[in-house]
Amino acid sequence: MRKALPYLVVLGLLALAPTTVSTQIDLGVPSKTGIVVSASDLAADAGASVLAKGGNAVDAAVATAFAMAVTSPSNGNIGGGGFMVIRLPNGTATTFDYREMAPGKSTPTMYLNKAGEIDMSLTQQGYLAPGVPGTVRGMAAAHKKFGKLAWKDVVTPAVTLASKGFKLSKSLANGLNSEVLGTERGPGRMAAFPASVAAYGKPGGGEWKEGDTIVLGDLGKTLTAIATDGPDAFYKGWIADRIAEDMAAHGGLITKDDLANYAAKERAPIKGTFYGYDIIGMPPPSSGGIALVEMLNMLEAMNLQKETRQSVRGIHLVIEAQRRAYLDRARFIGDTDFVQVPIDTLISKAHAKELIATVTPNKASSSAELGKDILSAGKMPAEEPMETTHFSVVDKDGMAVTNTFTLEGGYGSHVVIKGTGMILNNEMGDFNKKPGTTTATGTIGTPANVIAPGKRMLSSMTPVIIAKDGKLVMVTGSPGGRTIINTVLHVVLGVTAWGLNGREAVDSPRWDHEWMPDRVTFEANALSDAAMAQLKTMGYDVVQRGEQGSAQSIWMHPQTGTAFGIADHRSPDAKASKGGS
Ligand code: DON
Repeated sequence: MRKALPYLVVLGLLALAPTTVSTQIDLGVPSKTGIVVSASDLAADAGASVLAKGGNAVDAAVATAFAMAVTSPSNGNIGGGGFMVIRLPNGTATTFDYREMAPGKSTPTMYLNKAGEIDMSLTQQGYLAPGVPGTVRGMAAAHKKFGKLAWKDVVTPAVTLASKGFKLSKSLANGLNSEVLGTERGPGRMAAFPASVAAYGKPGGGEWKEGDTIVLGDLGKTLTAIATDGPDAFYKGWIADRIAEDMAAHGGLITKDDLANYAAKERAPIKGTFYGYDIIGMPPPSSGGIALVEMLNMLEAMNLQKETRQSVRGIHLVIEAQRRAYLDRARFIGDTDFVQVPIDTLISKAHAKELIATVTPNKASSSAELGKDILSAGKMPAEEPMETTHFSVVDKDGMAVTNTFTLEGGYGSHVVIKGTGMILNNEMGDFNKKPGTTTATGTIGTPANVIAPGKRMLSSMTPVIIAKDGKLVMVTGSPGGRTIINTVLHVVLGVTAWGLNGREAVDSPRWDHEWMPDRVTFEANALSDAAMAQLKTMGYDVVQRGEQGSAQSIWMHPQTGTAFGIADHRSPDAKASKGGS
């Protein structure tokens, strides 16, 4: 109850002086006619245009996703995969898993060199790095079940963007220049792949500039085929032929059979409760839903609300919840089509009580001590890239879609399949690549997420919907590799435990602890010097970093029901775009 106060204060002020105060309080972009929030302004507009034509939230989400494959090539994709959570106006919810699958010829140790170490050059780029893409099947599955408009109508905005071209933002121009031409630090990562340079380099050479128009002709043809002939054009038709040919010619593994056998799956959501709010998240192969619910259960059991927001004591409780949920993630979670994951136990309130038994009031726990059963010796590099993208949609009827998808690293494998304009993912790196080796630097080698043909790699993507008393509260998610779950946790805590509005929750500083490495990383300026000193005294290894994640979100005003689109300022091209007037 106590945490409802900030609302009352804000709303009280609004009631007294609506015009003055409402112009001062930035709640986001209001809409009663639907809204799309995406890290790409052009894609948000594409989704909003579909809402304006009478499409529902799923139609708009599909349009946004395809548009992002054009306008946000570092992470938006048709050559990757992701997760979509949908909540209908009647409160029922479902999810679509369109995560990539390991090719039929993949093996558990395919990324180890002769010395038995992980060869990152194989997982980070090139033809061995991709899993079988899932996005086109996933979009088609969601659209088939829930879409209102014709498939062609929701893919066409992307076709137009690719074929007619679009103006480059400063950040995309810079990004493409460094991928194609390189930087002072070295050659561009696309330089080794002529089809990639041909697709994304400036025609005639030289640097892209902000405002230049880029035309993606081959991608336009690929999207036209998908729009006209449906997903089979991608998985069984000429696009599949091109992928299989290019793979065979360059030592890649993906075959026509792999593509034909790819299936997107509708799965029951992970559901949790937190201080009376309902949390609806993604099940495995995402670890996001389980880990988020575990953290919230622990924080409720430790009564986080009796602390002050961002007090050292509150921060301590959050970090300890993060540490324990990420340890469970490492221990247990993988693709449930292949391994048994004790989901019901992990998300139970009883399990949270057991986990918090080891939390002490004024001292950091030891990750090594808590996870000694799975830790092995040795140090491994465990860098996870930060390039994924999240968008959120709510339509005029209150149908909500939260979608996170990715190529894994920025521009994925950097391989463009010749003749398609499509960049393939490097998602295979999300598997546990060195079975049996779990280290203090964050490499995980537990059995649940070891490579097997047809298996989906574990993900941290955490698209989430919050509801309360049957009403939609918030739609959110984020990019950021393993940090994603913690970013989403902060947004969720903001609007639930701390009673912030959506804008404040998204703007609030974030921090990240992932069990291993045993350190906590804060966004710059998140902590006062005194708080940092205190955390160090408690035994925390405290590090500061730049921005963490980018949560393109929608918050429903609890009194008026107006949807507020909240573009996260951490992404320069993000936009909340209204669907209709
Ligand atoms: O699925 C995952 O967890 C990762 N492949 C996500 C990668 C990512 O978020 C990179 N960045 N923003």
